[in-house]
Amino acid sequence: MRLALLGCGTVGAEVVRLLHEQSTDLAARIGAPLEIAGIAVRRTGRDRGGLPIDPALFTTDALGLIKRDDVDVVVEVVGGIEPARGWLVEALRAGKSVVTANKALLAEDGGALHDAAVEGSGDLYYEASVAGAIPLLRPLRESLHGDRITRVTGIVNGTTNFILSAMHATGAGFAEALDEATELGYAEADPTADVEGFDAAAKAAILASLAFHTRVGAADVHREGITEVTAADVASAKAMGCTIKLLCIAARGADGRGQETVGVRVHPAMIPLTHPLASVGDAFNAVFVEAEAAGQLMFYGRGAGGAPTASAVLGDVVAVARNRLAGVRAASESAYADLPVRPMGEALTRYHISLDVADRPGVLESVAGVFARHDVSIATVRQGPAGGSAGGAGEAVLVIVTHVAPDAALAATVRELRGLDIVRSVASVLRVEGGL
Ligand code: NDP
Ligand code: HSE
Repeated sequence: MRLALLGCGTVGAEVVRLLHEQSTDLAARIGAPLEIAGIAVRRTGRDRGGLPIDPALFTTDALGLIKRDDVDVVVEVVGGIEPARGWLVEALRAGKSVVTANKALLAEDGGALHDAAVEGSGDLYYEASVAGAIPLLRPLRESLHGDRITRVTGIVNGTTNFILSAMHATGAGFAEALDEATELGYAEADPTADVEGFDAAAKAAILASLAFHTRVGAADVHREGITEVTAADVASAKAMGCTIKLLCIAARGADGRGQETVGVRVHPAMIPLTHPLASVGDAFNAVFVEAEAAGQLMFYGRGAGGAPTASAVLGDVVAVARNRLAGVRAASESAYADLPVRPMGEALTRYHISLDVADRPGVLESVAGVFARHDVSIATVRQGPAGGSAGGAGEAVLVIVTHVAPDAALAATVRELRGLDIVRSVASVLRVEGGL
């Protein structure tokens, strides 16, 4: 069984190391020895940290390597949309099996890869693309295929989970926690994809596609990052027995005519400390799956890093290699349900809203009136003295938590509150998930 490795960076180098260290076991599990036919990289002369690799295996001609007749399996750990998309479509159409960790590509144009897999005779596996080492996609696409998944809620980005966990633990602000994440090597030099939620949104699209048998792309996912989360938000969450997490939520629902839909969103949210996801700290990932017959399931582990991600890549390599030897292939993409994607405005959520207001008679009535006009029911109201430098005599802080309402109604409520002269500022607006 001959393998073309595209990329030999953080993940690729660990794939090579594990292939080398476990070659005997892997051969026994597959039923044939696994050999590297070639490794495509950008810089063939780069130091690979003493990995046991024959320098002759390196090439910059990825396409040439993929097209070789002696290549059975293509492992892509380069990342990005192009040229990876062209390579993988070419490989799949030529009948090779493909293993990829490329969540950005799968979320951008997974359909092109699945279609190419159908045209060829190989498999397309991508366990490492979501939540690193955690076996998650295989359970969704195989173990739970007899069930009906209703909701997937996850912490799928390690960098942001590290930052939010640090903010919760130490009271640090976002910038300070990001600096710590960078120093420890969790956050990349350009952390935009993580902190703005793009990485989590790509993973949410992949999870929703598998859970709901529907093609969901990154563009279908409502996305908000964590850059606006303040130390005050975290303190407010703590005061309510909650913590703040960047959640990906994919859920079945229905539109106004009863037509089944799927909604997919990524945003920071307050969750109670008693929620299973609240205890997921540091850079760990966890995904909470709810299915009609199975009930609640939780998957937890390391969602990033060279070795954990390589573990998932190699699990896929063993699976596709076995299939090739047996002359079979895995079931193709399941997208038969083709559910429409629900707009964010129809998502049912709760809000935690913190307002700096004038402290005088009638203020509470005016504020409550805004909620009533938008048909948003208030669950709790807490008033405290105005804090911070802006606070002064005659001012107060109102913290309001709503019952569940459509996101559009909550957003309209906040817009109207911002226009009231008795509201000095809307200090924070956070969605609340999980029972309080
Ligand atoms: P790196 O940046 O560490 O490695 C990328 C590799 O691709 C390098 O070896 C680079 O070559 C090679 N490469 C880049 N461009 C080209 C090109 N045009 N032609 C040939 N080779 C090229 O990335 P990672 O290992 O971190 O990530 C790889 C994939 O795995 C991405 O899709 C990522 O999203 C995904 N992933 C990563 C995780 C992680 O924790 N790092 C976790 C889960 C998924 P050279 O070495 O010469 O520069
Ligand atoms: N940047 C990602 C994270 C890597 O922080 O989770 C794993 O996909």
